[in-house]
Amino acid sequence: MSLHRRLGGEAGIAALVDDLSARVKVDPIMGPYFRDVDEAALNRHRAMFLSAFLGGPESYTGKTLPEAHHPFRLSDREFDAFLRVMRETLDHSTVSFLDRRRILRSLERLRTDVVSRGVTVGPGAPSFGGPHDSV
Ligand code: HEM
Repeated sequence: MSLHRRLGGEAGIAALVDDLSARVKVDPIMGPYFRDVDEAALNRHRAMFLSAFLGGPESYTGKTLPEAHHPFRLSDREFDAFLRVMRETLDHSTVSFLDRRRILRSLERLRTDVVSRGVTVGPGAPSFGGPHDSV
């Protein structure tokens, strides 16, 4: 059985994403980024993306991860906060220990797509030297 099926298919994944979003909203590091975002649309996008990523039947049709995130110039600190919130979400779910570990490892591989390392975003944005740049 695929991981997607073990998580309860689309419905199970949507429930996980709802819980994740509730936790993200009140997280001191992540919360502020989501203040002005249409939550329902974002939940659908994320569920669709996660479902495709975890081997489900849907294919993802939203922005690429770099397109969606580079404007925010996120650092490892924000990405680590995301993994922590995701871990808390999984710890409160019925997902097995092995699957939790698989999911967190898969998400870790997306770090380079989400974190900005010296990219230029829009006119006037510094191309390097921000607090988020790696050495
Ligand atoms: C592996 C980690 C992550 C995944 C899989 C992920 C996934 C996504 C997806 C699929 C979207 C929707 C893109 C679209 O609109 O088409 C999105 C948007 C967004 N993400 Fe993430 N995300 C991750 C990490 C983060 C982190 C660490 C932050 C900030 C702390 C963040 C902040 C945002 C914000 C603010 C948006 C809204 C963009 C907009 O509406 O323009 N994400 N994310």
